[in-house]
Amino acid sequence: MSEYLQFFNLSMGDLRDRSVLDVAVGPSSFTAEACRAGIDVVAVDPLYGKSAEALAAHVKLDYGHMFDRMRATENSGRFRFKSIDEAERNRRAAARRFVTDYESHYAQGRYFGAGLPQLPFLDRNFDVVLCAHLLYLYPANHDYSFHFEACRKLICGWRGKKYGFTPCVVLMGDRSRN
Ligand SMILES: C[S@@+](CC[C@H](N)C(=O)[O-])C[C@H]1O[C@@H](n2cnc3c(N)ncnc32)[C@H](O)[C@@H]1O
Repeated sequence: MSEYLQFFNLSMGDLRDRSVLDVAVGPSSFTAEACRAGIDVVAVDPLYGKSAEALAAHVKLDYGHMFDRMRATENSGRFRFKSIDEAERNRRAAARRFVTDYESHYAQGRYFGAGLPQLPFLDRNFDVVLCAHLLYLYPANHDYSFHFEACRKLICGWRGKKYGFTPCVVLMGDRSRN
């Protein structure tokens, strides 16, 4: 959660008593930790809807590839840890917190399966809308019109206090053209 607050330059005070929509959440533990702190968060990702076991298996495989790549290039990416081993331990522990929370709160609607540019929340506004590490990150998969529609949809879900999308740098390290 502290990492997420840092990405978006938010404090707990910015989120207290606010409703938060977090899109492209994947195995992040932000939702679990923020809800435990009394913040009302709804998390959206196309992966949601699978069983907790299937998600845990997906994350295990995905992190295996990701950390192998990071070790091969000695690049610890966005993780602010002393070593790649420490980043991996931290990330896997966060994913376990996510899976436990998903298992007990999916049925209550805390986690919702959907992908941008479609968002199924037209009947509900949120005070804060977040989207970390999806937009501008994968230029081979997402073109200008995807970004235009995705940002339009994210901003439509916003009641006027705060929103944040990160990052504006593509995976290979070039500035995004979108
Ligand atoms: C790199 S992860 C980011 C996880 C988290 N937001 C974080 O910053 O730690 C990207 C996530 O985006 C999700 N995703 C992929 N396509 C998407 C789409 N069209 N709309 C919303 N999420 C998408 C993936 O399933 C994956 O969980």
